[in-house]
Amino acid sequence: MKKLVVANFKMNLTSSEIKKYVMALAPKFNSDKVDLSLALPFVSLESGKFLLSGSDISLTAQNISEEECGSLTGEVSGAMLKDIGVQRVIVGHSERRTRFKETGKSINKKIKIALKNRLQVVLCVGESLIDKNSMKSQAAITAQVDEALKGLYENELENIIIAYEPVWAIGTGKTASVKEIEEGIKVVRKAIETAFSKKAATEVRVLYGGSITAKNISQVVGVAGLDGVLVGGSCLDVATFIYIISVCEAGAKK
Ligand code: PGA
Repeated sequence: MKKLVVANFKMNLTSSEIKKYVMALAPKFNSDKVDLSLALPFVSLESGKFLLSGSDISLTAQNISEEECGSLTGEVSGAMLKDIGVQRVIVGHSERRTRFKETGKSINKKIKIALKNRLQVVLCVGESLIDKNSMKSQAAITAQVDEALKGLYENELENIIIAYEPVWAIGTGKTASVKEIEEGIKVVRKAIETAFSKKAATEVRVLYGGSITAKNISQVVGVAGLDGVLVGGSCLDVATFIYIISVCEAGAKK
């Protein structure tokens, strides 16, 4: 199965900078081993779609409104994203949970609205440093998975990808060890098994994210049961990111 590589630009690079970036990346990308998606800022999605036409690179949004439409100044709806050719959306990123106070209930609503608009979801879950230090990682991850996927039918999981992103590893330069990533993936799959079924737990795609770099990518991509990666800071330099993609391709061949 192909590895999924998602580049999370967060609030970085202007549309002009992204234009240059995509023009450097797209001609170099052609892979039967990696599915590549760029999670661009909202304002660059439509021009990104145009620039990526003819390439195999898809578009991911970084957020979605939990409501269908209406008087919600500053929000962007699922229908708007679908209309401009976005394929999937990141939901529940820890920066949104902590900085923007997104709750499990809101994340659950966002997932349902994304699926209704035929958008795939990259659901981010992961323990905080406090959870980790108090041995509560498993409980924290399980609760996040349960809340986010409440009320979903099992067949809807084919459009859900779960990114295990320990909060203490995001943007900190502290990547989780192979053992920690394996353990996180195991907890995610166990939570899916309990909430849905063993089959669902085996089939759900699980990514890792958190301080992935050119240095540690080969170690990360070799983790058993990992279906891909979510790359933040290290995607911003196009040469570094092309290298990361090439390592993922090599890893996918194994
Ligand atoms: P990072 O971000 O690679 O900069 O740690 C990952 C993420 O937030 O998805």
